[in-house]
Amino acid sequence: MSALHEQDPDIAACIARELVRQEEGLELIASENFVSRAVMEAAGSVLTNKYAEGLPGKRYYGGCVHVDDAENLARTRAKELFGAAWVNVQPHSGASANMAIYLAFLKPGDTLLGLNLAHGGHLTHGSPVNFSGLLYNAEFYGVEADGPLEGRIDMDKVREQALAVKPKLISIGASAYSRDFDYAAFRSIADEVGAFLWMDMAHTAGLIATKLLNDPLPHCHVVSTTTHKTLRGTRGGMLLLGKDYENPFGKTAPKSGRLKMMSELLDSAVFPGVQGGPLMHIIAAKAVAFGEALRPDFREYCRSVMANAKAMAAEFTSLGYRIVSGGTDNHLMLLDLTSRNVTGKVAEEALSRAEITVNKNMVPFDRNSPLVTSGIRLGTPAMTSRGLKVEDFRRIARLMDRVLSAPIDEGVAAAVRGEVHALCKAYPLYA
Ligand SMILES: Cc1ncc(COP(=O)(O)O)c(C=O)c1O
Repeated sequence: MSALHEQDPDIAACIARELVRQEEGLELIASENFVSRAVMEAAGSVLTNKYAEGLPGKRYYGGCVHVDDAENLARTRAKELFGAAWVNVQPHSGASANMAIYLAFLKPGDTLLGLNLAHGGHLTHGSPVNFSGLLYNAEFYGVEADGPLEGRIDMDKVREQALAVKPKLISIGASAYSRDFDYAAFRSIADEVGAFLWMDMAHTAGLIATKLLNDPLPHCHVVSTTTHKTLRGTRGGMLLLGKDYENPFGKTAPKSGRLKMMSELLDSAVFPGVQGGPLMHIIAAKAVAFGEALRPDFREYCRSVMANAKAMAAEFTSLGYRIVSGGTDNHLMLLDLTSRNVTGKVAEEALSRAEITVNKNMVPFDRNSPLVTSGIRLGTPAMTSRGLKVEDFRRIARLMDRVLSAPIDEGVAAAVRGEVHALCKAYPLYA
């Protein structure tokens, strides 16, 4: 990055310091990962210069021949990866992919049924501070407080809630739920109440692509994702259909009068519906990441992500911590710190002094506010990308326990920080 150093040393210094932070600390934020150098090179390429509104072969700008190739590669690879009939790789982020779904399937005021944000859901699934809760009538299902399904979704309750509120769209997917979903059960509820079914697999896309978790595509009317979490690509979003179908809203093509396919409505919802020009450098970087995810070693990586999460959860449990729902089926877990008398906020700050990066997170039925919380969310994708193994994650749990047992003790933070640096040095980032 010699040009940047020369022209703008201030920004170059920010980037250099961030690289050191990423190299030296333990990254346990469940939604983060480390992309390959190849993905970064594509993301930092001359494709950022190109305007390409529209789709490959149907652009509103000239000079799109090469970006068309890149977008077609991204589309073909994504379809192969997920066994999808159709994808749109243009959403700038998970939130904009979700916005396109609302635009294609709902009218303002229609009812949506999604997982409660306070129980692990996402802002874009109907939170009152997000467009989804402001423009649509958002209703929620949640997880169980106790009993055999503690911390899990009870499908009988989802059905009761769906029958009561009669949603037009049911969303599945979460940002802090450590269990897999029963898509067939969701679909039968959606069919019973006449709702569309949407899975937002932002967190688990890599684990779904590698068939280590249940596959939503055969059951859902539409699927959205981010490309930067377990999928380990550049930041971005994507929409997918397991199979394409005629749109159920009677929308016809102007000249022929034929019913438009749902994929056409979704394409239009992305552009011109919610976005302008696509980020062609990011689309090329997505293509690179999809190519990586198609390789057998990506499946091994995802297997390790899950094994590492299970080992870490088991270690915390043996140290006396409560994990919401008792464990994890995927890449993340929610640690309830209530019995330790530490809030999520204090834990996040204390761990950060030891250079262990986590995020505070509400636990279901939390008595603390979202800015304080009673828990933290932990994920294994990023550090697994660096090569850490089961025994390392067990050790991380013990290191974290030392900090959480003495959250204001600077001596403990410093000692743990030293061990964190040594551990990270053994697994270099971008060696
Ligand atoms: C389930 C879910 N959907 C959507 C998003 C939004 O993704 P983005 O931050 O790319 O807009 C997230 C991000 O955390 C998420 O967890």
